[in-house]
Amino acid sequence: MKLVLLGAPGAGKGTLASYLVEKMGVPTISTGNMLRAAIADGTELGKQAKSYMDAGDLVPDSLILGLIKERLAQPDCKNGCILDGFPRNVPQAEALESMVPMDCALSLEVADETIVGRMSSRRVCLTCGATYNLTNMKTKVEGVCDKCGNPVVIRKDDAPETVLARLKTYHDQTEPVKGFYEKLGKLKTIPGDVAMEEVQKLACEALGL
Ligand code: AP5
Repeated sequence: MKLVLLGAPGAGKGTLASYLVEKMGVPTISTGNMLRAAIADGTELGKQAKSYMDAGDLVPDSLILGLIKERLAQPDCKNGCILDGFPRNVPQAEALESMVPMDCALSLEVADETIVGRMSSRRVCLTCGATYNLTNMKTKVEGVCDKCGNPVVIRKDDAPETVLARLKTYHDQTEPVKGFYEKLGKLKTIPGDVAMEEVQKLACEALGL
């Protein structure tokens, strides 16, 4: 299955993707993680993307589309993929649909107030992309990633003022992507503000897994 995960920043897309990857046996492609890796590696893409990400804006489509096209052409995507963080606006969704049509777009619905609270307690591993939370998903050893042993940190764009900018960007540019998939009959919606196990169950039901 080729699946798009939609939802506001902090809705739980990455957390759900790391569960679905086992169930579906296809890779997760997170454009956010790819961009953070490019910044860490000091590549030209990373240099160009950084200021947009720090401000909570979208990175220009011209940078993202080439990246995703190259990734989707990799052999591990031949049986499907889970897209987390792409498409982020209607032009990206149109480009994706003409490149590799998706089977389903699953949207996680979470109120903005809940998101602001979640982001302040989120911690991430910038090496492997694993996500944790100080309230309900702690690392086994404080400050150390369970998966790869590297430090877990606060993401730079999780500062409260940047979270508000990202939410605005989401409502202005990404929310209309739901309408795009709805018109194609591919949109499914589940609540994302319930316990993680419940989100996983609802996602499996919606996807027929
Ligand atoms: P990206 O990395 O994609 O960030 P995002 O979409 O803003 O999403 P997040 O990673 O912040 O949140 P999430 O939904 O994955 O939530 P998570 O599972 O971590 O993008 C970052 C930036 O890169 C963008 O702002 C943009 O600049 C750029 N970019 C990326 N893609 C782009 C594109 N296609 N085009 C242009 N620019 C692009 O969960 C959040 C927290 O909540 C965690 O702590 C988690 O433990 C917790 N949590 C999860 N589920 C639950 C639950 N059910 N109950 C309680 N807590 C929960």
